[in-house]
Amino acid sequence: MTESKPEIRSGLDGVYFMESAICKVDGANGRLYYYGYPIDELAAESNFEEVSYLLMNGRLPNLSELSSFRERMRAARAIPGEVIDVITELSERSTPMHILSTAVDMIGSLKREGPDRKSTYIEIISELSSVVAAIGSISATGRYTRPEDSLGHIENFLYMLKGERPNKESVEIMERMFILHAEHSSNASTFSAIVTASTLSDIYSSTVSAINTLKGPLHGGADEMALRMLNDMRGKDIARYVDNTIALGGRIMGFGHRVYKSYDPRATIIKGILESVQPKASAEVRELTKTVLSLEAVMRDKVSSKGIWPNVDLFTGPVYRYLDILPELFTPIFAASRAPGWCSHIQEYWKSNKLLRPTVFYTGEVGKRYVPIEKRQGE
Ligand SMILES: CC(C)(COP(=O)(O)OP(=O)(O)OC[C@H]1O[C@@H](n2cnc3c(N)ncnc32)[C@H](O)[C@@H]1OP(=O)(O)O)[C@@H](O)C(=O)NCCC(=O)NCCS
Repeated sequence: MTESKPEIRSGLDGVYFMESAICKVDGANGRLYYYGYPIDELAAESNFEEVSYLLMNGRLPNLSELSSFRERMRAARAIPGEVIDVITELSERSTPMHILSTAVDMIGSLKREGPDRKSTYIEIISELSSVVAAIGSISATGRYTRPEDSLGHIENFLYMLKGERPNKESVEIMERMFILHAEHSSNASTFSAIVTASTLSDIYSSTVSAINTLKGPLHGGADEMALRMLNDMRGKDIARYVDNTIALGGRIMGFGHRVYKSYDPRATIIKGILESVQPKASAEVRELTKTVLSLEAVMRDKVSSKGIWPNVDLFTGPVYRYLDILPELFTPIFAASRAPGWCSHIQEYWKSNKLLRPTVFYTGEVGKRYVPIEKRQGE
């Protein structure tokens, strides 16, 4: 008897695999909530440490809780010397995302998870930022800047990245960028972290899975690719560029989303940041802004009726260029800011863990007979 073909949801589109209270992505209305709090309120009012606390604890902290959480994050900032050596060794021979994955795996292999997993989550959130800053600083200058205890998380991140104390505006912008990227429900990298965690592997290994999944250009890698595409479009007829790209089966990076079929609310906020910095922006950033706004208008005419709108990655690159950050660091920064989201989902999944193991519908043959190699017919 032949099996009847089950419904196959390509890309697991629309498949629910668990209940979660962490994040609501309202794709139809373009809204996003972390534990019920609208993203625009968090981006305007909160800070990355507080949002990390929220994601790890399900509620906002009071003053003393936030202070001790910050203290624990601060205590985890330093990176082991061996890891700095490896980052230095790889910096001229590899890419920042590969180095990040290697460094995080190495940090995990140098220590064992303690019985209090909560501490390990906090360490990972802190360490990822330090590693990304070290990768950026070592590849740019060959030097590692040690963390500075007197600084908050984002200020310290920029300090370690640039080797000098950042100005207030850079800290405020980066704080908002980290909050906006901190969590996004069961996206590909988070799902990847959960798959690894579901085998009861450890938190570092789960985070490494997430980092390597984030890297792809259809996911977190889109921020760098979008910036490169904007640079490539400069001075060209953008409508024709879009038509040619789509005709060749390509994608316009920074547009479209599996869940949002409306304007990504994070893109709205990042676009606002980009517009607000224009008076002080360099010629490069002003030119990028002109190009990105023209592209947005072209895409609105051509594909918004199909539910393809700007996503979080479209305006991120020009904002990071305003902060003088190189494109190859965009996705590593995305990873550093997404760390609390990954950890929050791993923690939630482990509360009622079940090995994740979907099923494929087999369409091959069965019952073939093995033929020794010397008796097989050639092509
Ligand atoms: C993110 C993404 C993978 C989600 O796509 P998805 O839900 O799997 O949808 P599909 O890839 O099946 O695309 C559906 C249709 O929209 C089109 N489409 C989707 N995104 C597009 C884009 N950025 N540019 C051009 N066309 C796009 C597809 O070509 C397809 O068209 P068709 O039905 O005529 O074949 C997709 O929008 C994309 O590739 N975007 C560019 C990369 C990017 O910015 N990623 C970051 C996401 S936050």
